[in-house]
Order: sequence, then C-alpha cells, then structure tokens
Amino acid sequence: MKLPEELQFIANARMVQKTTDARMDGRVCIITGATSGVGYHAAKKLAQGGAHLVLVCRNIEKAAKVQEELKCEYGTEIDILQADFSRLDVVRMVAEALLDHYPHIDVLINNAGVHTTRRTLTESGLETVFCVNHLASFLLTRLLLPRLMESTPARIIQVNSQGHRFGGLDLNDLNWEKRRYKGLKGYGASKTAQLLTVWELADKLRGSGVTVNAMHPGEVRTNIGMNNGYLYQWYQRYLLWPILRDPVISGNAIYYLAAAPEMAGVSGRFFNLTIDEKPALHALDRSVGKRIWKISETLTGLAEAD
Ligand SMILES: NC(=O)c1ccc[n+]([C@@H]2O[C@H](COP(=O)([O-])OP(=O)(O)OC[C@H]3O[C@@H](n4cnc5c(N)ncnc54)[C@H](OP(=O)(O)O)[C@@H]3O)[C@@H](O)[C@H]2O)c1
Repeated sequence: MKLPEELQFIANARMVQKTTDARMDGRVCIITGATSGVGYHAAKKLAQGGAHLVLVCRNIEKAAKVQEELKCEYGTEIDILQADFSRLDVVRMVAEALLDHYPHIDVLINNAGVHTTRRTLTESGLETVFCVNHLASFLLTRLLLPRLMESTPARIIQVNSQGHRFGGLDLNDLNWEKRRYKGLKGYGASKTAQLLTVWELADKLRGSGVTVNAMHPGEVRTNIGMNNGYLYQWYQRYLLWPILRDPVISGNAIYYLAAAPEMAGVSGRFFNLTIDEKPALHALDRSVGKRIWKISETLTGLAEAD
C-alpha cells in the first residue's frame, strides 16, 4: 500500500539504506556533539574511514575518552575542542580556533542537539533548544564558510530531525514568551528553522563547490532527552528505548552523506537517513526561510558584523 506523501517518511525509514566504500583518508571532518549517540557513531564510522576528525564537544572529559578510543581502534588523527552551544560567544571562539588550526576543512557536521520538556533560557536570554539546535549551528557554519569555500569540494551536513514535522516555529515568538512552551513544539521549531536556512544557504552556495544538506538520523536509542525530569527519563528508558533502533544506522548514514562520490554536487536536500525525502510543507516556505535567515543573522550578531 502506498502511503500518502506526508506519511512517506514512515516507509522511507524502513527502506534499504545506501552505503559507500569510498574512504575519507586525511579529510578534515569537524563534528559537533560526538560524545554520545548519533555524533559518536558518526565519528566512529568516519575514523574507520580514515578521516582526520575534529570533535567539538561540550564535555571535554567525555570527548577525551572518545578521542582515545577511536585513536586506539583506528589510528587516525583526532583532535578535540570544547564548546557549549548554549553560548554564542563560545561558538565564535571555537570557530576562531578552528580557523586558526585548520587551513583546510572538508566536511562540517552540525550534530549537537538537545530536547527539553520545559522552557529554559541561555545566559543571554535565548530559548535554549532554539539556540543549541539552530542558532549555534547557523553561526558556526557561517563563520567557517570562507574556509569551506577555500577547501572545495566541501560538504556541510545538518543533523536535523523528523521532529521538524511537529512545527512550532512562530517568527513573532521565537523565545516562547507569548505561548506555553511544549517540548516537542520547541524542538520542532528549532529543527524547522534549521531546515529553512538550509534551503537559503544551498541557494547562496550554488556553484561554489560547497554543498549543504540536512538529514534525519533515524529514531535511535541515544541520550537525547535524558536531561529532563525523572518521569521523562523513565518513559524514555523503559518505553522508548526498547522500540528505537541502534544509532549505528545514523553513523552509517552520515558517513554516506559525507563520503559517497554520488553525493558530490547534491545540495539543498533533506535525507531520511540516506533516502532523499520531502520535508513537511511548513519547512518549505521560502518566504519564512528568508525571514528566519535574517532573524538568525541578527540574533547571532552576524548582521552587525556585515
Ligand atoms: N536520537 C534520535 O532518535 C534522533 C532523531 C532525530 C534527530 N536527532 C538529532 O541527532 C542529533 C544528536 O542527538 P542524539 O540523539 O545523538 O542525542 P545525544 O546522545 O544526547 O547526543 C547529543 C550530543 O549533543 C551534545 N550537546 C547537547 N547540548 C549541547 C550543548 N549545549 N553544547 C554542545 N554540545 C551539546 C551532547 O553533549 P554531552 O555528551 O555533553 O551531553 C552530545 O554529544 C541531535 O541534533 C538530535 O536532534 C536524534
């Protein structure tokens, strides 16, 4: 039975996924949030493929463990840098360090992400999920863009989510001051904003040799959400985890998007793991995309710099 277009993502998740034998030897790949779940498995697969990894992580002890494990297992070069993405000043500092250290960047994977059931604010008063999931990746990408453009062919992968289908993006209330915060909607808003800016960036990068795509890493057993209350943690551990998949599939899919020769030149698309998919209609509204691009530039201080 063929599912209606808006439910096609359910069937896509069960399709045979694409893989590649292409290696990544010596390619400099920056990945955020590699201490756990999707990011950890992507880092592992990239290390196995020979990539020179730069892990940008919030918790340096956890990152050092991953660094040691992957170095021992695969013998590839692995560097770590610390950054908390709830602080945009820190994102700027880490971008500067990356530009100082790496004259060449082949792949940027914006993976770090968070889901909270309650509204919390960052030190600068931004709603945390929106800041970590969207603004931080938007800012890091923009700051690294000149280097990526000097390193062509280069690829940007935004680890997004089917959660964008929850909606929630209200340009007049990005900080959830006028509405009651709902975790899934807040998460959906952040992922919708990221997707909308992917289409804008892809257009701006056309012909530059840098591609940008978004992907959903599968419904997988990770620590996302485990920062919430005990009841949520119990629900996740005992009811959700048993039905979720192994995040190895996420790592494999990200590797494919980063390494596959057939992905060269493919840009401005959304992938369910490795399957090209149509996102929800509200995430395809280019007029909203242009507005959220400008708002994101203002909130991250990029507009001022311009
Ligand atoms: N799991 C799923 O089913 C699923 C589905 C769709 C999309 N995703 C997306 O996949 C990505 C990875 O999530 P995951 O499921 O692998 O969850 P996870 O196991 O919780 O990993 C999240 C990673 O992001 C890091 N992180 C969280 N907040 C951060 C901050 N403020 N600054 C810097 N790093 C931060 C975490 O660091 P710590 O180790 O220090 O906490 C961790 O490394 C997210 O973008 C998520 O939205 C996941």
